[in-house]
Amino acid sequence: MEIREKAPAKINLGLDTLYKREDGFHELEMIMTSIDLSDHITVSSLDEKKIQLTTNIAFLPTDKRNHVYQAAQKLMNEFNIQIGVKIHIEKTIPVSAGLAGGSSDCAATLRALNKLWKLNLSLDELANIGSQIGSDVPYCIYGNTSLVTGRGEIIQPIKDMPSCYVILVKPNQSVSTPTIFKALNVQEAHHPNIAALKWAIETNNYQEMTKHMGNSLEEVTVQRIPKIARIKDAMMKFGADVALMSGSGPTVFCLVKQEKRAQRIFNALKGFNEEVYLVRTIRGKNE
Ligand code: C5P
Repeated sequence: MEIREKAPAKINLGLDTLYKREDGFHELEMIMTSIDLSDHITVSSLDEKKIQLTTNIAFLPTDKRNHVYQAAQKLMNEFNIQIGVKIHIEKTIPVSAGLAGGSSDCAATLRALNKLWKLNLSLDELANIGSQIGSDVPYCIYGNTSLVTGRGEIIQPIKDMPSCYVILVKPNQSVSTPTIFKALNVQEAHHPNIAALKWAIETNNYQEMTKHMGNSLEEVTVQRIPKIARIKDAMMKFGADVALMSGSGPTVFCLVKQEKRAQRIFNALKGFNEEVYLVRTIRGKNE
């Protein structure tokens, strides 16, 4: 039996950092949503007890350093699985981009192995296991539009964000998430009003939502990659309704309601950026 699971990317409509905790992590308030830009995970059984991981991207590690490998190992150990597993990651989401590609692959692996090994674990249980691997994994277990708090492990699904087009640009430089968090000064950072953002989404008020979108980490990453600010300016100049960095970056995205305008902005950005994507938001079941 082979099980194929979709692993969608996420964007942060809002990311607020409240304070640095004693365990070194930051207390966060975020609104995340899934977009129609996905990796795919395929799992099947092996007779020999081992984890055989392959990907379509040559530079990705296929050993313990990969969160997908860690997810399989954790389930194997905890549930005393005596057979092996073959896992293939088919990547489309840019790597180290602020789009939770690796976390979504990890979450999709947990969901897939839950089926393959008939573990009957609830999403809450899978999220709990995922939280031990990475802070964004619990959100990726649920997907859709959610309010995410704590270190990233407290997930409250909310109404789907108003439907629109999303155009993303991934600059070719990369940043490390720990470096960005380390350089963050919570007092000086921008603090988006997450409650107002949530209310705008729950009342399906697109315009009000765009007003309250914001990311505490953006300024820190812009200092290292100034191109982010230039891409944002270009997006707004070309007619986007709002433009923002996702997660700790460096991917920048903008939102647009009309398809024609989205296509025009996409074409214009393609002129001077290598990695540009035009996708839609994903409609969940919680409308
Ligand atoms: O959990 P994860 O390994 O994805 O986190 C990567 C890094 O991001 C952490 O080592 C930490 O420096 C930072 N982080 C944080 N607060 C969070 C989540 C991540 O400071 N809530």
